[in-house]
Amino acid sequence: MTETTFAAIVLAAGKGTRMRSALPKVLHAIANRPMIGHVLGALAPLQPARTVVVVAPGMDAVSELVAPAESAVQAEQKGTADAVAAARQQLDGFAGDVLVLYGDAPLVTPATLQALLEARRRAPRPVAVVVGMRPPDPGPYGRLVAGPDGALEAIVEALDCTPDQRAIGLCNSGLMAVDATHLFPLLDRIGTENAKGERYLTDLVAVARREGLSCRYVEAPADELLGVNSRAELAAAEAVMQARLRRQAMEDGVTFVAPETVFLSADTKIGRDTIIGPFVVFGPEVEIGEGVQVPAFCHLAGARIGDRSIIGPFARLRPGAALAPDVHIGNFVEVKNSRLESGVKANHLAYIGDSNVGAETNVGAGAITCNYDGVEKFRTEIGKSVFVGTNVSMVAPLNVGDGAILAAGSVITGDVPADAMAIGRGQQVTKPGRAKEWRARRRQARHRGKN
Ligand code: UD1
Ligand code: MG
Repeated sequence: MTETTFAAIVLAAGKGTRMRSALPKVLHAIANRPMIGHVLGALAPLQPARTVVVVAPGMDAVSELVAPAESAVQAEQKGTADAVAAARQQLDGFAGDVLVLYGDAPLVTPATLQALLEARRRAPRPVAVVVGMRPPDPGPYGRLVAGPDGALEAIVEALDCTPDQRAIGLCNSGLMAVDATHLFPLLDRIGTENAKGERYLTDLVAVARREGLSCRYVEAPADELLGVNSRAELAAAEAVMQARLRRQAMEDGVTFVAPETVFLSADTKIGRDTIIGPFVVFGPEVEIGEGVQVPAFCHLAGARIGDRSIIGPFARLRPGAALAPDVHIGNFVEVKNSRLESGVKANHLAYIGDSNVGAETNVGAGAITCNYDGVEKFRTEIGKSVFVGTNVSMVAPLNVGDGAILAAGSVITGDVPADAMAIGRGQQVTKPGRAKEWRARRRQARHRGKN
């Protein structure tokens, strides 16, 4: 996508104090993907030559998650300039552009990153370009002090602003592209003269200017540059991401009856002409085919659903649910780690776990695979065109052959061959007239009690 190579530095070492969390801030998820994953996802199409993620000591979980991107450790969290400097060793000798991104700004798009790199390369080739934005509430963001036509004179942190500067609506998103040969020497000149006593990356602009080097800014939409510092901002970013994912799915040919009630994951895949009802929740790793109907109130995670299937209302598909085309799953049915072949119907109140269910098999209301004995899990193999009656308990491990019938209310503990009928329940005893006698006796007893 880009013409010359660039390296990316993603800052993720901050304490994230305002999150009040044991989890590193960048691992907090939006649309079921950690924030840092979104940032790396936006970078990927631009194919950076190197990506260095700056973490704090002990943030091994972040390093593992971002691999194969490299990690650099910032020994102490002394500010964003110090954090960028932590990548110095990895980028030693790198000549090109360095793109600095903040791991807590997960909504950035490849188009904005591309525009930033292009602005850095355009004459008069400023030493650094910053992405500015105009959020509805500039509040805590750094302010861009701009000169004439796109020139940038300084970035001032909100805490250090004069009242006039605080009134500036143009804010710092944190995204910056810097000429690699100047980056580290400029960082060395940044001090700690500010309200927090930290070394601010934002001071790079004023330092460069003092050296006679020019900086510029470009603007991008505020809703893709939101920085997440608190749980409330995490929720705000989630809302933006959800709206974006729903809009994309609708553009791809999916109908949402009430879009604002549907929750998607970043990796949700839905085929054309599928109709999603109100209040459907997609956990991670869901793939739905074309022409599927998912009426209201379903919870899906780790599931694959074939074309033309009907799921719900009130269905729960859990990880490993693999449904062929034309499967019907109805209300209060749970499917986990099971493959259901074409034409399978389980329309009411059933649990299918650790099973294979053959084509055209009907699973009756209340049927349950008993897959767990309290210690181990076992599989249930059900053939084609089987009829599983109402309230059948299938105690795994179990094989049921093609065309078998399991009688309603049975507890099936032994294998059932093809075309057999298995009945495993107490014998029915019917006593003519007994109900009437019983009622009469009860009434007499009650009458005696009252006198
Ligand atoms: C920062 C910017 C501010 C901008 C805002 C946009 C600075 C000084 N301020 O403020 O101008 O408007 O982002 O969201 O840069 N980090 C480290 N090591 C550190 C400190 C921070 O890696 O020592 C990382 C954090 O993990 C985070 C990012 O740098 O991903 C930004 O730090 P944060 O503390 O969130 O800065 P803001 O106050 O949001
Ligand atoms: Mg921040």
